[in-house]
Amino acid sequence: MSVQYMPVIWNRNKIVYDAVLLIAVALYLYVYIRVGPAFEDVTRPIDGAILRMRAFGSCAFLMLTVILCIGPLARLDRRFLPLLYNRRHFGVMTAVIAAVHANYVLGWYFNFSPTDQYVALLSSNTNYGQILGFPFEAFGIAALLILLVLAATSHDFWLSFLGAPIWKALHMFIYAAYACVVLHVALGALQGPGDPIFTALVAASVVLVSGLHFVTGRMEAKRDRGEQTAQASLQEQGWVIAGDLDEIDDTCAKVVTLSDDERVAIFKYDGKLSAITNACAHQNGPLGEGKVLWGCITCPWHGYQYNLADGRAPAPFTEKISTYRLKLVGSTILLDPNALPPGTHVNPIEFGGDS
Ligand code: HEM
Ligand code: FES
Repeated sequence: MSVQYMPVIWNRNKIVYDAVLLIAVALYLYVYIRVGPAFEDVTRPIDGAILRMRAFGSCAFLMLTVILCIGPLARLDRRFLPLLYNRRHFGVMTAVIAAVHANYVLGWYFNFSPTDQYVALLSSNTNYGQILGFPFEAFGIAALLILLVLAATSHDFWLSFLGAPIWKALHMFIYAAYACVVLHVALGALQGPGDPIFTALVAASVVLVSGLHFVTGRMEAKRDRGEQTAQASLQEQGWVIAGDLDEIDDTCAKVVTLSDDERVAIFKYDGKLSAITNACAHQNGPLGEGKVLWGCITCPWHGYQYNLADGRAPAPFTEKISTYRLKLVGSTILLDPNALPPGTHVNPIEFGGDS
């Protein structure tokens, strides 16, 4: 099976998200470049190219800060969830703004040097052994390279091609990019007079990003401990771990084998979970491979249908199959291995559908 490339599928939410983002970025750049200098009390105004370079650099840094805060904020309060949606476009835009910053830098940096600009950028200062005077540009280059790789691999194609674990591990490098940018800015600031407002902003960003991750990390560790205790006590009562919510694709089933002749199909559909026996009442067809429609499963062999919540065939048919009780602890699915009498109604587990 091969992975196919699909263009970005746009919908109204994505368009609104991107439009708001673009307007905010344009507003920030406009205020920084056009309005800001009017309030500056200096005899020699900053050169336009340097101003633009700083505007794009600080904009990319602030965007990176927001991106890293969205995850923990959404975990702390569900009202931040809409920000999580389409966060990948946010990342791509950040990489573009950072690239514009680097482009402006290369527009004037070493412009009057006899050496090639790129060579001069990498070779003019190689004092990596000192803090004051450290070639801070190196951290900028590293950050930009990471951001570009992450932007280039942000499409769903790469998620399917690399597989979720590798893709997620790769995209954790966003933290390395952030660390590089902080070092880039901090070590750069040590070499010049620096802007105290921006220095305070960078410090605030570091405190915010690390503080939010610390708080959510502790919260999750506490919740995990609670979940482990709940799981252990359910297992003591005879429940079995059937797998993780993420393992099951929407409108599909995971089939759990309890014994040689007893298999249970756990279905995920419409933000709910239900479990029924895997054996069709007609000729033992594998229900776990059937199609879910309107809360009913259709057997893949001869098309018998059963309601997933009670295992009953829709009227006028009268076939009934066994149902099973489920529990969801965190994202772990637990199954009561005792089959209920055929046709017994079990309330589906609701998980909200945004896993
Ligand atoms: C090829 C990569 C990069 C190069 C060569 C580079 C170079 C520079 C240079 C030379 C400065 C100091 C400018 C000055 O004298 O005021 C600077 C400042 C800065 N850079 Fe970069 N940079 C790069 C990538 C990045 C990236 C990826 C980000 C953010 C995501 C970034 C954010 C900043 C910020 C916030 C400042 C400070 C602006 C200010 O002082 O207001 N840079 N960069
Ligand atoms: S085995 Fe299921 S419909 Fe025949």
